[in-house]
Amino acid sequence: MNCCDIINKTKRNIKLSSDEIKWLVTEYTVGNIPDYQISAWLMAVCLNSLTDEETFQLTDSMMKSGDILDLSSINGITVDKHSTGGVGDKTSLIIGPVAAACGVYVPKMSGRGLGHTGGTIDKLESITGYRTELPFDEFISIVNKTGFSIVSQSGHLCPADKKLYALRNASGTVDSIPLICASIMSKKLAMNADCILLDVKYGSGAFMKTKADAQKLADIMTAVGGMSGKKCSAMVTDMNVPLGRNIGNALEVKEAVEILQGKKKGSLYELCIELSAEMLRLADKGTTEECAEMCRNAVSSGKALEILAETISLHGGDFKITEDVSRLAQPLYSHTVYADKSGKINKMDSEEIGMTSLILGAGRATKADSVDMSAGIVLEKEINDTVEKGEPLLTLYSSTVSDFSSAEQRILNAVKIE
Ligand code: URA
Repeated sequence: MNCCDIINKTKRNIKLSSDEIKWLVTEYTVGNIPDYQISAWLMAVCLNSLTDEETFQLTDSMMKSGDILDLSSINGITVDKHSTGGVGDKTSLIIGPVAAACGVYVPKMSGRGLGHTGGTIDKLESITGYRTELPFDEFISIVNKTGFSIVSQSGHLCPADKKLYALRNASGTVDSIPLICASIMSKKLAMNADCILLDVKYGSGAFMKTKADAQKLADIMTAVGGMSGKKCSAMVTDMNVPLGRNIGNALEVKEAVEILQGKKKGSLYELCIELSAEMLRLADKGTTEECAEMCRNAVSSGKALEILAETISLHGGDFKITEDVSRLAQPLYSHTVYADKSGKINKMDSEEIGMTSLILGAGRATKADSVDMSAGIVLEKEINDTVEKGEPLLTLYSSTVSDFSSAEQRILNAVKIE
């Protein structure tokens, strides 16, 4: 086969055969096709898209480029969940224990934050002692004991995606629905849970800026999941405003614990109930309403919090943070921003808030950057709340930045009062 023929076919909207796609992925992964040829093909995909069948073949070939996990020694039905990423998204820390408390098993591999979006592994590493890298057998043993574990993604899963994702970042070819689908679903399918729930975000802090595009991505991802023999569903959710009140690693763990303690309700709690209920429904645990009721009970009974504590303990982490959140990393510096006028908050731009959190030290601009676990932002108000001039709007935290003037300037552009 010849790479130029394949590039030309996609450029001319001619469908590729499964053998051509398999060849392209395999040969690129082992280093027999240079980056410049794959970049040209990726750009052709960005401009002309792929059919559903081609997207499935691409996903399947990428999945088969590395290990496919064997979860058969887990004692029951397994459910994985994936969010396409956002600001303040700590849902995995909440819904994993909730779903586990209701009788499904949640073995999860997560990533680190990059740019304005956070990553679950960074959040977990803000818990003193929590080991995110475990031998596979230990990971499975924790899932069997508590029903839930999160580790960082192993180096042997989807090497094709690792190479392709780095190339897409460097060649302006990230924002293509079939490429995003293949990248995410190849990793989810290699993870090999029985059921997969996708939380596809839209809005300012998300990859998909419009709800219509997020729905298109959700549709193709669930179709590819189905073609691969998995029970798969997707929810399309809003990322125009951050999720919950806390943004930043230790701050997000704190908010997750407060939700599981039953101390905090509101939109984050409701979204977590919806997501975990959908995980249970996929696993045939009941109707949506029955599953939502089971999830609410898992929080109100304290069972989900117990599962979080036990899981943290088995990972070597300070499980007492589930009783006393002040044991989490505390910032050296803080700065409260006050409303400069009275009115209604009609904008809380996720991407700008995520970028502000990054400059306070909570995120990374490049993969090599280190993270200040204590840094971040606590929103004192939510979108559509009314405020009086002089009331606190939000508080900025950091242990590495003591001059908050540029962060304040940035955040004031993100929050609008009318
Ligand atoms: N997350 C991924 O893993 N891949 C993408 O292409 C986009 C988001």
